[in-house]
Amino acid sequence: MIGQIPNPNEPTPNLADYSAMQAAFSWEAACAEWVGSPNGGLNIAFEAVDRWVIAGRGEAIALRWLGKNGERQDLSYAELARLSDRFANSLERLGIAPGERVCILAGRIPELYITALGVLKVGAVFCPLFSAFGPEPIRVRLAKSRARVLITTTLLYQRKVRKQRGELPDLQYVLLTDSREAELGLYSFHALLEAESDHRPPPRTQPEDWALLHFTSGTTGAPKGAIHVHQAVIAHQLTGRWVLDLRPGDIYWCTADPGWVTGVSYGIIAPLANGATLVVDEAEFDARRWYAILERERVNIWYTAPTAIRMLMKVGAKTVREHDLSALRLVASVGEPLNPEGVIWGLATLGRPFHDTWWQTETGAIMIANYRALDIRPGSMGRPLPGIEAAIVRRRSDDRVDRLEPGEEGELALRTGWPSMFRGYLDDEERYQRCFADGWYLSGDLATCDADGYFWFVGRNDDVIKTAGHLIGPFEVENILMEHPAVVEAGMIGKPDEFAGQIIKVFVALKPGYEPSDALRKELLGFARTRLGPAVAPRELEFLPDLPKTRSGKIMRRLLRARELGVPLGDLSTLEGEYPENSGDE
Ligand code: WT7
Repeated sequence: MIGQIPNPNEPTPNLADYSAMQAAFSWEAACAEWVGSPNGGLNIAFEAVDRWVIAGRGEAIALRWLGKNGERQDLSYAELARLSDRFANSLERLGIAPGERVCILAGRIPELYITALGVLKVGAVFCPLFSAFGPEPIRVRLAKSRARVLITTTLLYQRKVRKQRGELPDLQYVLLTDSREAELGLYSFHALLEAESDHRPPPRTQPEDWALLHFTSGTTGAPKGAIHVHQAVIAHQLTGRWVLDLRPGDIYWCTADPGWVTGVSYGIIAPLANGATLVVDEAEFDARRWYAILERERVNIWYTAPTAIRMLMKVGAKTVREHDLSALRLVASVGEPLNPEGVIWGLATLGRPFHDTWWQTETGAIMIANYRALDIRPGSMGRPLPGIEAAIVRRRSDDRVDRLEPGEEGELALRTGWPSMFRGYLDDEERYQRCFADGWYLSGDLATCDADGYFWFVGRNDDVIKTAGHLIGPFEVENILMEHPAVVEAGMIGKPDEFAGQIIKVFVALKPGYEPSDALRKELLGFARTRLGPAVAPRELEFLPDLPKTRSGKIMRRLLRARELGVPLGDLSTLEGEYPENSGDE
């Protein structure tokens, strides 16, 4: 257990008394007290940016962008408010109506932040696509979202969208961030922006209006689009304040890419809604670069992920000691299990223990966390946010749930009714309903809770995996491989990896007439990588004569996993789940 670390220079935690807040807090009251925008609406972008300008903090830096080639650009709150107003005006001129989807496919560039806020201001739905996705995951998401507008760069457009544009009838406008020209169906983002005025009336969105669409994966079927509403900002702001201990003027760095939910909820909304300065690094992970950023920018609050922490640990403490990291006040982690060694390494080398936090695309905001004011139990995800009731449950066949005793393993569930809870999966009400039972949201994670209310992660109860913190479902990966003429069946698993947590491994059965060979393995891996992109591509591939299946014909990835881990196949009692008819569906 790691207790509070006394430091006379540190302000008292924003959440100073966890138990008192847990007893007193209600979302109803918090939502009712929320002021909102001047015309009575509630809008994420207004709460994140314009509110500060009105309060006289317009000159504070909202965004400090560090380009991969050493460029720097600062945008103040006032500038960000102005530019996002302009972009909202551009979208309005294009005829984008409230509720319509606008996608962005870009790296961490300033235009991404202007886009996110402008889309929210016009009342459209912001949907980020990860730039390391290949053409196929991008096509699927653009099609499912029925996006009318895509903001991207010339290179990403040419590599990942152009060829498939004919299959995307809803996609009317593609705005390029790095082009001044307009040609058929392509427009210049900056030219559109420059043509507009800085002014716009405050947004009119209501708390339950759709705001964000984040795609996420399950075991079966295509990716699901989780919908979040404007009221989510209340949970973003509050978790930023209580868990990340953010306060106005803090320098804050979230290393997650805005192509995923963390990079939006905590890479844009929560820090701005708390008046912090957001550090954005365009470059990919590099230990020395990262330490240099922490030092030079005087980062106070740092939110990162176990994969990065493991890579930093590998580089060693000597590199850390070459840097002055004394500005760091709180370091936190999310996305995959953070082992106790990581927490303790943080304390020993950065002088700060990593605070693990747990949440999901569906929960929209942090639900379980280690707080500054409470002891940290290394290896535990922490305790529920005040206002959140979490429990370990078992779903019964009559669709009620039983709560389990401390120490018992079961599914992590949350009592419904917090503002950032997803309001649906786009066009899939049935799947949405399946996530709930008896007034609980069932997370799909297996966990335990100890007698003091700390939650401990055990694993997933389905076949999705985490690689470098990214959630990947088997469906997309297996489907692509099966499009290759040599492949009859494919099964994906996560193979344990020292750094990424898991890497994607596929088992493949070949059609008659094809023989396993190194050349074919390379061809299949290359085929998958070209179509899926580096973030989703399998790293290893193994041939099998055929894949283990249930009687109803579903691939039993659990057996593939057991095979990989060297668990004897005969000893099925050691495998999780029921056997042999375990469906593996969510
Ligand atoms: C899944 C959700 C991470 C939030 C945004 C990504 C896993 C998340 C932890 C943690 C162990 C964790 C769970 C969860 N996960 N946080 N602290 N310890 N596992 O959301 O992509 O929807 O992923 O990430 O399995 O269900 P996501």
